[in-house]
Amino acid sequence: MKLSEMIGNEKIKLQLSLAGQAAKLKNNSMPHMLFSGSPGTGKTTCAKALADLQDTPYIQAPPESFKNPEAIYGIFTKLDYSGYDGEGNIVEAVRPTIIFFDEIHNLPLIAQEIFGVAMENWEVAVKKKHSPETRLHWLPRFTIIGATTLEGKLSKPFLDRFKMILSFQTYSLEESIRITNFHAARKGYDITEDAAACIASKARGTPRLVVRYLEGVIDATVVLNRNVIEVDTANTIFDLMGIDSTGLLQSDIKLLKALYKAEAPLGVDNLSILLNEEKTTLERRTEPYLIRRGLMIKTGQGRLITERGIDYLQENGHVEKSLGLSFRTQF
Ligand SMILES: Nc1ncnc2c1ncn2[C@@H]1O[C@H](COP(=O)(O)OP(=O)(O)OP(=O)(O)O)[C@@H](O)[C@H]1O
Ligand SMILES: [Mg+2]
Repeated sequence: MKLSEMIGNEKIKLQLSLAGQAAKLKNNSMPHMLFSGSPGTGKTTCAKALADLQDTPYIQAPPESFKNPEAIYGIFTKLDYSGYDGEGNIVEAVRPTIIFFDEIHNLPLIAQEIFGVAMENWEVAVKKKHSPETRLHWLPRFTIIGATTLEGKLSKPFLDRFKMILSFQTYSLEESIRITNFHAARKGYDITEDAAACIASKARGTPRLVVRYLEGVIDATVVLNRNVIEVDTANTIFDLMGIDSTGLLQSDIKLLKALYKAEAPLGVDNLSILLNEEKTTLERRTEPYLIRRGLMIKTGQGRLITERGIDYLQENGHVEKSLGLSFRTQF
């Protein structure tokens, strides 16, 4: 996907294309960048699209694999060395490689130290064989793009090397509809307006979910021997997947019901036992969306369902309507 084809995130796209053009004019690398934000919102796609736009090499590597200096030197040998003289001075057009680290917070501390120096000074100290001494080697320019949901886990000096920090937000319904239409067309299918709105409204503002749901609906369309994606096909698939009209999954509803039934705020340990789910799944996957939708909150004492959460359960027939006011309704 081209950067210009990506829907929404206009300011991010503008900042990236400015950085890219400036780097070309200066015959230098772009600043190192951190992409933060929700999962599935386009960070990886954007990094790859930027490399295509710049026509520079692109390396994606798992950060946790850089446990020792040798692994790090290994990646330096893969950089693009064209445009330098023997001492590392720029003498012709350079093509600074983009190194993309997904979940960069998993980069071991030793790697943060070595990359940290390399990212600013364009050199690396390599230990001489059979000797405690080190020798400095020059490096060509490169740009590190790190995607993270946990910026706080990076060491301060390493974090300071990133001069551009871009935050990827979830998408509006209108943007999600455009994303649905874009991916349907890319896969070669016509889609009705209703069907696009239906898929977009369940996707929680997350392009990854748009694409996943669209694939399911396309499969059903093919099996039904239709050539247009229609809303009744979409609805059948969402029913099968147990996704309700507002995009909540069965696991979300189970969590809300547990909070509704609890007599007191629930800690994550208790929730994890009650729902038979891993704590990290609850905290990273299930809860953020429910909190964003205002259906539950986290307090110092534990999790609570909100008034809106109670309304949601009652209006959708998940629990009986009750008349009594409980401690929960103050939220
Ligand atoms: N702005 C956009 N417009 C159209 N499609 C998009 C957009 N952003 C993402 N997508 C699509 O959504 C899917 C997920 O995007 P991507 O893998 O880049 O997300 P991510 O932020 O890297 O996710 P994660 O945090 O899980 O690594 C891809 O199939 C991509 O094509
Ligand atoms: Mg990604």
